[in-house]
Amino acid sequence: MSLIELRDVTKSFGDNKVLKGVNLEIEEGESLIILGRSGIGKSVTLLIITGLMPPDSGAVFIDGQDITKLSEIEMIALRRRFSYVFQSGALFDSLSVYENVAFPFAEDRHISDEAAEKKVFSILQLLGLEKIADLMPDEISSGMKKRVAIARAIAADPRAILYDEPTTGVDTITGKLISRLIRKLNKDLGVTTVVVTHDLKCAQFVADKVAFLHDGRIYFHDTFDAFLKSELKELLRFKRSLPHMMKYIGAE
Ligand SMILES: Nc1ncnc2c1ncn2[C@@H]1O[C@H](COP(=O)(O)OP(=O)(O)OP(=O)(O)O)[C@@H](O)[C@H]1O
Ligand SMILES: [Mg+2]
Repeated sequence: MSLIELRDVTKSFGDNKVLKGVNLEIEEGESLIILGRSGIGKSVTLLIITGLMPPDSGAVFIDGQDITKLSEIEMIALRRRFSYVFQSGALFDSLSVYENVAFPFAEDRHISDEAAEKKVFSILQLLGLEKIADLMPDEISSGMKKRVAIARAIAADPRAILYDEPTTGVDTITGKLISRLIRKLNKDLGVTTVVVTHDLKCAQFVADKVAFLHDGRIYFHDTFDAFLKSELKELLRFKRSLPHMMKYIGAE
């Protein structure tokens, strides 16, 4: 059984039919990259997987359970195990780096303050953030902010982490660092990973599989190598729209 399965998922905003029947299965421990042109519905798909946005129709199975049928309280419990790293990073501006990462523990009665502190420090260390623990978000770079957002995401001990454009808006070196980190967390902690990105270098580094969203459906779902080799019309068009990226990853 897959950890995550979307079955015939549709979503419209007024006349704008964004998802027209998305079918997608994601295995436990897998790392999946979602590609597609801007505005095609990638972020909407992530929001639907996390239950933050309800689909119009179709089913979203997590561990075989259709989450579109869960109560609000059952959803809250589920959301704890699914971390979502927003496109913007979305840190709490009035909290320090340490407090941001410690946030998931604030309401967790299963863990003592001492154990929580230990855990937060080990996560900060894992991500190379221990030296900036006391700084505020507006005192650190955008690359650091993304890493803090990732640190906060793993603090909740998630089964899956969903990342929306984790390397957008950071320089090349930081982008590589973040991509490496995402893969490391996926491999070392076994966290199922879903990444939406325009960054093919990140995809090349992180992907077990690539899903390409086009015209409201999953148009292609296979390995990154198969994605590079594929001559499907829409994939060729997409790849041609990213000539610098294709050169950058050594595909041209
Ligand atoms: N809350 C909303 N209300 C109305 N329309 C929305 C809403 N969220 C998304 N949309 C529309 O749905 C479509 C898909 O949006 P989405 O953000 O998923 O695109 P995307 O593939 O993530 O694009 P990008 O690569 O630019 O981030 C767009 O046309 C967008 O305007
Ligand atoms: Mg988006």
